[in-house]
Amino acid sequence: MSTVLVTGGAGYIGSHVCKALAEAGDRPVCYDTLEKGHAWAVQWGPLERGDIGDKTRLDEVFARHRPRAVVHLAGYIEVGESVRQPERYFHNNVTKSHALIDAAVRHDIEAFVFSSTCAVYGLPQMDQLAEAHPIAPLSPYAESKAKVEEVLARAAGRGLRSASLRYFNAAGADSGGMIGEAHHPETHLLPLAADAALGLGPALTLLGTDYPTPDGSCIRDFVHVSDLADAHLRAITWLAGRSAGAHEAFNLGSGAGYSVREALVETGRLAGTPVPHAVGPRRPGDSPKLVGDITKARIELGWTPKLDLVAQIEDTLRWRRKMPR
Ligand SMILES: NC(=O)c1ccc[n+]([C@@H]2O[C@H](COP(=O)([O-])OP(=O)(O)OC[C@H]3O[C@@H](n4cnc5c(N)ncnc54)[C@H](O)[C@@H]3O)[C@@H](O)[C@H]2O)c1
Repeated sequence: MSTVLVTGGAGYIGSHVCKALAEAGDRPVCYDTLEKGHAWAVQWGPLERGDIGDKTRLDEVFARHRPRAVVHLAGYIEVGESVRQPERYFHNNVTKSHALIDAAVRHDIEAFVFSSTCAVYGLPQMDQLAEAHPIAPLSPYAESKAKVEEVLARAAGRGLRSASLRYFNAAGADSGGMIGEAHHPETHLLPLAADAALGLGPALTLLGTDYPTPDGSCIRDFVHVSDLADAHLRAITWLAGRSAGAHEAFNLGSGAGYSVREALVETGRLAGTPVPHAVGPRRPGDSPKLVGDITKARIELGWTPKLDLVAQIEDTLRWRRKMPR
């Protein structure tokens, strides 16, 4: 059994990573301020409350638990908020990540896995985005992720083995119903659609229906959060096998695109009632289509996403019915 420090482990994706680690026989230590995360989501190992920018606290926790690897998910995640408060995002997501990365180097960590985003690519110049696509972030949030990737690439010179996992649209929930997405405010499509269909939230606003896509709504690549979690474990193993410092980026998506309208129709079908929705204007900065080329993760990590859009929606509906609110 080895110990893995999971920053942001009380959040949506981090809690699923902790569960997957525990199921694989590892010991996840959740390091989180709980500013956005939830104590109820920490079920598979100890919670160490702390900030990734706090050097003293980090040294204490690294010394106590001696983790073999770090999975770094902690950060602020709202694109719109980042446009209004860019400094807050750069401080929390970039400056504080420096402190964590320095601690990982000081404590001789075998593998460092970072939560990045497909938003680092900006406006797509190819049909399916591959890792070689130019980096051209459109929001301070995406810029903060691109900057941390750069810091990690430089830290390879100090011996750090790291991977930046560029998630497309994380979706779904633990199929056992133990954890799921609980953001306040919630900005993601599937939980908002599920709440609208179940009468647990307001009607959904469809942001733009005049995109150059077959049905006019945006096309996105949805990937199940449990598949994402599995990729983190594979990335740790892959990194541990490198002989020297390295940094690699991997796309994590399903490789298939669904339109927002298709996702709503499917949610309505599975909920047994159509999703109430209104049509609104486009949101600035949204690309018409974001679909990932996941060949690199398939080949290098041996990763294949298993849970399709139907499973993602079913798990979301189950979770939204029972989640603590
Ligand atoms: N949800 C998605 O679709 C998606 C897509 C791409 C990338 N990501 C990235 O994945 C990561 C996790 O996303 P999520 O949806 O689980 O978010 P989340 O908000 O549910 O979880 C983030 C966690 O980080 C903690 N945190 C924030 N700042 C901290 C700090 N300074 N020190 C310690 N803890 C801190 C929060 O309390 C929270 O528990 C984020 O880095 C996000 O940018 C998410």
